[in-house]
Amino acid sequence: MAIVTLNNGVEIPQLGFGTAAIDEWQKDNGYVTDTILKAISIGYRHFDTAAVYGNERALGRAIRDSGLPRQELFITSKVWDTEQGRGTADAFARSLERLQLEYLDLYLIHWPVPAYTRETWEVMEALYDEKKVRALGLSNFRQSDIEQIATFAEVKPTYNQIELHPYLTQKKLVDYCCFHRIAVSCWSPLGSGSWSGVETRDKPVVDPLIVELAEKHGVTAGQIILKWDIQQGRIVIPKAEKLDHIRANFLLEDFELSDAELEKIDSLNRDHRFGGDPDTAHEENRKVEVPE
Ligand SMILES: NC(=O)c1ccc[n+]([C@@H]2O[C@H](COP(=O)([O-])OP(=O)(O)OC[C@H]3O[C@@H](n4cnc5c(N)ncnc54)[C@H](OP(=O)(O)O)[C@@H]3O)[C@@H](O)[C@H]2O)c1
Repeated sequence: MAIVTLNNGVEIPQLGFGTAAIDEWQKDNGYVTDTILKAISIGYRHFDTAAVYGNERALGRAIRDSGLPRQELFITSKVWDTEQGRGTADAFARSLERLQLEYLDLYLIHWPVPAYTRETWEVMEALYDEKKVRALGLSNFRQSDIEQIATFAEVKPTYNQIELHPYLTQKKLVDYCCFHRIAVSCWSPLGSGSWSGVETRDKPVVDPLIVELAEKHGVTAGQIILKWDIQQGRIVIPKAEKLDHIRANFLLEDFELSDAELEKIDSLNRDHRFGGDPDTAHEENRKVEVPE
């Protein structure tokens, strides 16, 4: 699988494995560990979690049980809204403890909370200087949030993880990030997991154009969407529990979409969010606590 080099030189596998709501939201059990171990055995080396997913322990067990050297894995976690500001150092320490790791590869601010961004980022910069994390990044940051961070950051953000799929292409924000050498990573690339309550019939994986392209290329609809991301240089972190899905999502090398096909998929955009909107999400997020 291809590698993306972040603006600080750290390399990240372009395809990662999303871990939100494996089994169910905030489940941290043996089934979660087994699902992640299946992904590792298929070849995934990049895993995306967050304190609020409540499954860092299960990921940590999978890492240990895999027997792989730590440096062969790329692990991302995120600081939740309620733990931003001065709480960030403790939140980071608790994530490491739950994961049973000495360091993270990437640590993100999960959602922008402009009143806390400076304090949060300065704590993260200290963790970076102490080499407890190899790269710092953002999630759900709008252009205005990135402009805010640029006014004081000594360590430049390397990455912005945003909701991105054929129904929400966020072209302006993607172009802005690319111009500033901030890697774009796509969450809910297939139209979201069980946490969102969205019906399959409403997701881009069943869109007629995507299905038609899948038939033409002899692959699955999910593979078409992921390839659309990969060919345009975006990092992508699909979540899957079914073995067929875990396998298929990893097998993206044997076909290529034409420029015209990429453009057709781009044109499916309808600015439709399956998850929270950064303009308003904080109001709901602040009611959600990170489970111990
Ligand atoms: N930063 C943020 O705020 C944020 C927000 C949301 C998500 N995320 C991250 O992004 C990751 C991915 O997003 P997501 O979990 O919302 O959903 P997603 O990856 O868009 O979709 C997951 C759903 O698609 C199904 N699926 C997987 N592969 C498929 C395929 N090849 N064909 C058809 N269906 C397939 C899965 O089914 P099965 O599980 O049954 O196989 C599951 O129901 C998360 O796990 C998390 O790590 C970040």
